[in-house]
Amino acid sequence: MMKKTIVFKCGGSVIRELSEEFFHNLKELVASGWKLAIVHGGGPEITNMLKRLNMKTEFSGGQRKTTKPVLEVAEMVLSGSVNKFFVAELAKHGLRAAGVSGKDGGLLEADYLDPETYGEVGEIKKVDASIVNALMEKGIIPVIAPLSMTSDCKTLNVNADLAASAVAGALEADKLMFVTDVDGIMKEKQRLDVLTPEEIQILIKQEVITGGMIPKVNSALSALSDQVSEVMIVNGKGAFFAEHTFQGTKIVKTKEAVS
Ligand SMILES: Nc1ncnc2c1ncn2[C@@H]1O[C@H](COP(=O)(O)OP(=O)(O)OP(=O)(O)O)[C@@H](O)[C@H]1O
Ligand SMILES: [Mg+2]
Repeated sequence: MMKKTIVFKCGGSVIRELSEEFFHNLKELVASGWKLAIVHGGGPEITNMLKRLNMKTEFSGGQRKTTKPVLEVAEMVLSGSVNKFFVAELAKHGLRAAGVSGKDGGLLEADYLDPETYGEVGEIKKVDASIVNALMEKGIIPVIAPLSMTSDCKTLNVNADLAASAVAGALEADKLMFVTDVDGIMKEKQRLDVLTPEEIQILIKQEVITGGMIPKVNSALSALSDQVSEVMIVNGKGAFFAEHTFQGTKIVKTKEAVS
């Protein structure tokens, strides 16, 4: 039987706070035959580094504009410190990992999203998962920094949630797990266990889903339409896998599809 694949997206908000249980859960999955790939964010660490470098950032419509100097710092932080920190954490827990970015092996090809508004930010156009597959075949967990290249090899930053959903789609992953700093999608302090695309649209309209959760649910929906069977939002600060079940908010095409 073909080994099943899970793609994890670890938020910049949680990378340095991942629990022992989180790594233990990853080991359990590897031991039971799952292939794993990880995409990470790093927004807060980029912000810190820009501050340390005294670099001014431009905002456009509430969004930081990725100017060329900001992109240079973003790549340094994402592909450098954050990526290598993560690889070392996995190694500490007995998990073999190797860092790449979307620029390596033609993994993520992108085009400018909207240079006037966002600057050096890409919209993913093409995914070639060969490098990810090659590592996973050797039992090495690929740890992917969210950068990309245009067809003429210019570097562009990409949103990590969208990068994860693109990678999961290309791998035809069985599961895509967004690992973040909350237990899942919350409403009035309660976790919503299962949501459909229609329910998510309503929660966005009601402003229950806001901020960083919006690109996440949009990426979740795009992965579902790319044939990824199951997408979840889970907390990296605790255990996401307990008593043989994944803990968090499950996003499914229809409620009947829940097993
Ligand atoms: N309904 C909701 N339920 C849970 N969290 C929500 C909801 N609406 C908005 N959020 C916010 O979404 C945040 C998670 O997204 P965020 O983008 O901050 O994290 P991340 O993607 O894991 O990390 P990063 O963007 O730094 O890589 C939560 O911490 C919470 O503040
Ligand atoms: Mg985010």
